[in-house]
Amino acid sequence: MDTSFERNKSQDEWLTPPYVIEALGSFDLDPCSPIKRPWDTAKNHFTKKQDGLSQVWKGRVWCNPPYGTETSKWLGKCSKHKNAIALTFARTETKMFFEQVWSKADAVFFIKGRLRFYTLKGIEGDSAGSPSVLIAYGKRNAKILQNCDLQGKFIQLK
Ligand SMILES: C[S@@+](CC[C@H](N)C(=O)[O-])C[C@H]1O[C@@H](n2cnc3c(N)ncnc32)[C@H](O)[C@@H]1O
Repeated sequence: MDTSFERNKSQDEWLTPPYVIEALGSFDLDPCSPIKRPWDTAKNHFTKKQDGLSQVWKGRVWCNPPYGTETSKWLGKCSKHKNAIALTFARTETKMFFEQVWSKADAVFFIKGRLRFYTLKGIEGDSAGSPSVLIAYGKRNAKILQNCDLQGKFIQLK
């Protein structure tokens, strides 16, 4: 089976390595979760079936959104919700990054090295084709990124 992140057509279904989420404390909601997930990422989950983007979000949110043009909408909702940590590729020069991260987030944490995302069957894939960044919306989440045990570089934005 081909587990390369960049070669896989269904990039949407690459899952966060569990140790990343565990390092950030517990979350109340993952609004963009697979329909059949190999593990929980929060206390509550929305999937494509409910369309997490159109739902009301409650509590502390974990958001590794669908990639591509959809990402901006999800990060925009994280920003309005003001209580979320998001994970996306560190494409820091893009319009999306300027609109939803540099100008709205409280802090960012650039992950050292490349993450290895997981398949829906819970199998670890190859290293991702791009670096990843964690994005904090809300002061408490910025503090959590600042104090987490992951390897990388924290930058306060607000
Ligand atoms: C990059 S994966 C991340 C999965 C999981 N949140 C994690 O961190 O491991 C993005 C997920 O968003 C789901 N998704 C795509 N569109 C969605 C929608 N409109 N509402 C809810 N989930 C959606 C996909 O099925 C996929 O499982």
